[in-house]
Amino acid sequence: MKKPRIAPSLLSADFGRLAEEIAELEGLGIDWLHCDVMDGAFVPNISFGIPVIEAIRRYSKSLVDVHLMIQSPERYIEAFAKAGADILTFHWEATPHPDRIVQLIHSLGKKAGIAINPATPVEVLVDILPEIEIVCVMSVNPGFGGQRFIPYTGQKLHRLLRLREEVRAQSLIQVDGGITAETAPLVQQADVLVAGQSLLGAADRKEALRALQLSTGLIV
Ligand code: DX5
Ligand code: ZN
Repeated sequence: MKKPRIAPSLLSADFGRLAEEIAELEGLGIDWLHCDVMDGAFVPNISFGIPVIEAIRRYSKSLVDVHLMIQSPERYIEAFAKAGADILTFHWEATPHPDRIVQLIHSLGKKAGIAINPATPVEVLVDILPEIEIVCVMSVNPGFGGQRFIPYTGQKLHRLLRLREEVRAQSLIQVDGGITAETAPLVQQADVLVAGQSLLGAADRKEALRALQLSTGLIV
């Protein structure tokens, strides 16, 4: 896979025209949709939930990547899997039983991801890394789109890349939050970069996508 792949966060989409928004993104060559689910408890904001994921699944051919920013995610894994998620990413900080949840996600035939908040060290993942398909390194505090990239998270990515090599894991590394054409070069060694405001909030999305791809060397 050519990397880093750009995954739009639908949090910045126009929810009144979600199907058209998805079609527009797919028309630009996007094949990975990042869906931010927030519960108002784990994070101080509420976004959307199961019925919206079902709708996204219905109107999209892309990979549906569900980022669960919810407390005790084990309560809803099955429902989101049924709704059509391809990837289920939950937060390390939201449960005492990450391994149990990874097993549950796999038993439902889905890819498992773990997200870590900016202040959570990547080293907590040392043992579970070979078991998961995705690691999501949060580069903002989860809860809102359009926040500023936290610079030290770039160093975390580099430690995680080394850790992945050390433990010979295959997990894809995603960086999420505050990604723009200015900050993307700092994390261009990631496999997937999530872009919300800088892409969906742009007047010309085609140009914004191109700017992101140029800034990371994805295109020249
Ligand atoms: C933050 C979300 C991110 C975010 C990305 O809580 O997980 O996916 O909305 O949006 P931008 O690119 O606007 O920071
Ligand atoms: Zn996200």
